[in-house]
Amino acid sequence: MFETSPRLEIYLERIKQNAQSVAKLCHENGIQIAMVTKVLRGNPEVARVFIEAGADMIADSRVPNLRLVGEHLPGVPRLLLRMPAQKQAEDVVMHTEYSLNSSLITLKALSDAAVKLGKVHKPIIMVDVGDLREGVWPDNLVPLIKEAAMLPGLDLVGLGANLACYGGVIPSVENMQILIDARDEARRVTGLELGLLSGGNSSGLPLLASGKMPKEINHFRVGEAIVLGRNVLDRSPWQGTRQDTIQVVAEIIELLEKPSVPIGDTGQDAFGNEPEFEDRGIRKRAILNLGRQDVVIEGLEPIDPGIIVLGGSSDHAILDVSDAHTPLKLGDEVAFYPGYGATLAAATSEYVKKSHSLIRAWKGEQMDHKPENDEKEFDPNWAKNLMAELKQSFSDVGDSFEKAWNEGKNDPKIKKFGEEMKSTFKKMGEDIEELFSSKPKE
Ligand SMILES: Cc1ncc(COP(=O)(O)O)c(C=O)c1O
Repeated sequence: MFETSPRLEIYLERIKQNAQSVAKLCHENGIQIAMVTKVLRGNPEVARVFIEAGADMIADSRVPNLRLVGEHLPGVPRLLLRMPAQKQAEDVVMHTEYSLNSSLITLKALSDAAVKLGKVHKPIIMVDVGDLREGVWPDNLVPLIKEAAMLPGLDLVGLGANLACYGGVIPSVENMQILIDARDEARRVTGLELGLLSGGNSSGLPLLASGKMPKEINHFRVGEAIVLGRNVLDRSPWQGTRQDTIQVVAEIIELLEKPSVPIGDTGQDAFGNEPEFEDRGIRKRAILNLGRQDVVIEGLEPIDPGIIVLGGSSDHAILDVSDAHTPLKLGDEVAFYPGYGATLAAATSEYVKKSHSLIRAWKGEQMDHKPENDEKEFDPNWAKNLMAELKQSFSDVGDSFEKAWNEGKNDPKIKKFGEEMKSTFKKMGEDIEELFSSKPKE
């Protein structure tokens, strides 16, 4: 049967609304925005809604993700967030237009690659303004810029800083001023324009919204505030965004009553930790087909507030469902809002199915994993098999709707659920129409 869980559900329209809201804030303040796809593994459909929402460029930390974005959205400017490895220089120049950098040796490698490929690459030089992750110390910036300016394959477009990642340092007028002063000094000494000042990530949005962001800062790189709608300084909801953009869904594979404290002498668990347990007596516990290989279990917030996540191991998440608001049985699915780490892991795990506007995802997979002229991969029964799988899945979906309606027809939430499902299916219908509208090639 068609396996549908565990899965990551990506609500593209909601992400788009968030992207529009953050883009508006940035653009009204003269700031270009690079929207970051890395938490959803460079998903081209996400990149597409970012562009539709007003992104000026797409940023990601991995070259293969940006390559994928380029294949689906030719002409969209791409920024590599993680500093390139020297040996990666050719790939970086081939698949990105901009990259963040702090080392002359790597800049030389990028320049050589650009000359070889007949391109010009645009590095943004990172300055460490206090968070102690990437970036040259401000005092060492001018010598670096002087040398880098001589490299023929590069166009040094500007400087950047990153905060609230390693050291948790909050963006402030003071640390932004360090970046501005460093740029002014480099400009004075080298005569270069260095026009782009990339002030930061989602953590810079509160300073921007307060009206205190210095006007010289004209570029941001934003991921989490858009994708999950969070103020990353405290994970509270970010203004103008919604937080129900992504769900992780898994199936109950065991549902039994058990004590809440293990029996016997305890040592370390499978991950070398010594867990502690609260004695709540005998409880109804559910095990899901989802584990640490797929998500950060501690980063899962059950959508049903009566469910408690107890913990898990590589392949299992363990829940206390005694107080679940909806009665559960074996085979039922449980949904969660994942935090950043859980989203990142679920998007990366090959075992987690990716479901957003289903047909589009499928189309994407066809493009991403197309076998190259390998006739052995071709299954002559593919159409029949796919049709059988789809029919089975839709029959299961139909049963679930009927059950939901019978059990909760007086509940306004069920009505809302029905409305949402109607529009999801309408959208799927449109996608199918679009998919099959072009005549197949003979
Ligand atoms: C250098 C850099 N800039 C920007 C971002 C985006 O960060 P956030 O998701 O907090 O907006 C990241 C991380 O994804 C990053 O590493």
